[in-house]
Amino acid sequence: MAYRNSTETFGSVAKALHWAIAGCFVIAYTSVYYAIAYTVDGQVANDIAVQIHITTGIVTAGLILVRVYWRLSGIRPEVLVTNANLKIAAQISHAALYACMIVQPITGYLGTFRDADYLGVTNFGDTALFAWISTTFDISWEAWEAPMDFIHRSVLGSKLLWMLILVHVGAALMHHFVWRDGTLVRMLPRR
Ligand code: HEM
Ligand code: HEM
Repeated sequence: MAYRNSTETFGSVAKALHWAIAGCFVIAYTSVYYAIAYTVDGQVANDIAVQIHITTGIVTAGLILVRVYWRLSGIRPEVLVTNANLKIAAQISHAALYACMIVQPITGYLGTFRDADYLGVTNFGDTALFAWISTTFDISWEAWEAPMDFIHRSVLGSKLLWMLILVHVGAALMHHFVWRDGTLVRMLPRR
């Protein structure tokens, strides 16, 4: 399998990045919803689950940088639908997914005081940049954190991202089982 994309199919690098990030999303969602549903702040289980969430989020941030570079430096296979409206819908939903994959780790990082030092990542609240923002704009951590949390948790994490992922997976299944084109197959490993 070629490592670069062609006009017909995705190469191994694009596939590996797609599925690695999808895997990170599954772990990030499972761990944070476990923390919210079955634990309370201060419990060891809560700490572990949220740390898993933060770790997969930070790994996603690294992977998305590589993915965006790879996407911009190569070609993308042609979308396999002929209907112009569906083509535009695919482009918009892919762009929205890319935007969420970038914004979600950023707002997660900017909006939590939870420890991420074990990854060599200083909590944003403890950085010189936040100290500067805080004194220059006279803004407390609580006032700063609220809009970040709102975007991360209330807008994207619990709503928009869910919708986009459901539409995305639904479209992949429609391609495979209803329109019977090669869209899903060309994103699978080993093809
Ligand atoms: C793949 C990227 C990420 C996704 C998809 C994601 C998604 C989510 C979701 C769905 C929630 C719960 C929303 C709700 O309240 O219903 C959440 C909460 C949270 N996220 Fe993320 N997140 C990501 C990255 C990050 C990163 C990088 C950090 C921090 C560095 C972070 C820190 C947090 C924290 C602290 C919470 C609150 C957990 C609690 O309730 O104690 N997230 N995130
Ligand atoms: C079971 C889950 C998933 C399936 C079956 C799936 C399937 C696919 C398929 C078949 C494609 C190729 C579409 C085409 O050729 O036009 C694709 C592309 C894409 N997927 Fe997924 N996907 C899944 C999960 C995810 C997740 C969780 C995300 C991000 C949060 C995501 C983001 C994307 C993006 C941005 C593209 C466009 C790639 C590009 O054009 O560079 N996918 N997906």
